[in-house]
Amino acid sequence: MRFDVLTLFPEMFAGYLGESLLKLAVQRKLVEVRLHDIRGWATDKHKKVDDRPFGGGPGMVLKVEPVVACVEAVRQEHPDPGHLVLLTPQGRRLDQAAVEQLADHRRIVLVCGRYEGFDERIRLVLRPDEISIGDYVLNGGEVAAMVVIDAVIRLVPGVLGDESSSQNDSFSGKERLLEHAQYTRPREYRGLEVPEVLVSGNHEEIACWRAEDARVRTLRRRADLAGPPDRDLAAQDNSQEQSSAAAHSAEQARKDQP
Ligand code: 6GU
Repeated sequence: MRFDVLTLFPEMFAGYLGESLLKLAVQRKLVEVRLHDIRGWATDKHKKVDDRPFGGGPGMVLKVEPVVACVEAVRQEHPDPGHLVLLTPQGRRLDQAAVEQLADHRRIVLVCGRYEGFDERIRLVLRPDEISIGDYVLNGGEVAAMVVIDAVIRLVPGVLGDESSSQNDSFSGKERLLEHAQYTRPREYRGLEVPEVLVSGNHEEIACWRAEDARVRTLRRRADLAGPPDRDLAAQDNSQEQSSAAAHSAEQARKDQP
């Protein structure tokens, strides 16, 4: 998987690229990230990449010529022009389904905005896939580009040690539920015990407990993610404390419904 990142601040990526999972993935040649400084495509002698908005108003707008020139040059570097993504708070909101779609591409070109926005003609000429990472405003697309890369590489075969681990992630799989609770040693801490079933060694019962915990957890925390029958139950009963007992009775109530 190859990412090309077009930005005015390539230095912002150094720390992130040099750490942890991504560093390993790059070393193992599973992932490649190339940084391109948009300023390198400025045509005038002052290397101007932004200008004041027509019509007045605060801030600066990214100019069309350097951005389009940079995108076109970078896409031509390789026979696969890649999937073009513009990072903007006005884009479609990123979720795990969108991450899965992005991971189907072998090359992704990410364009980071800064200042007050892009000249509208950048969108009109390039027709990019516009993506936002949530309903709040960042100072630029750089952090959002790192979010996209971080989420997508988890789905690149070989990047995670254990190939099944991304399938159990929250928002993943057919139902897209939150992931079940996890425990590790010690078995008891300040009177809180690890559920007996998890240390039973019975894999069928463990899978059953986890499926139930994931459903109840999703219902309590994120009813918007739960399927319609579960969502109805959440509306009836929103105050119940999350515990395995509550999880169990919520599950019973669900089963008892006509
Ligand atoms: Cl992709 N860019 C900016 N500037 N703000 C955002 C965003 C992107 N996604 C959410 N807020």
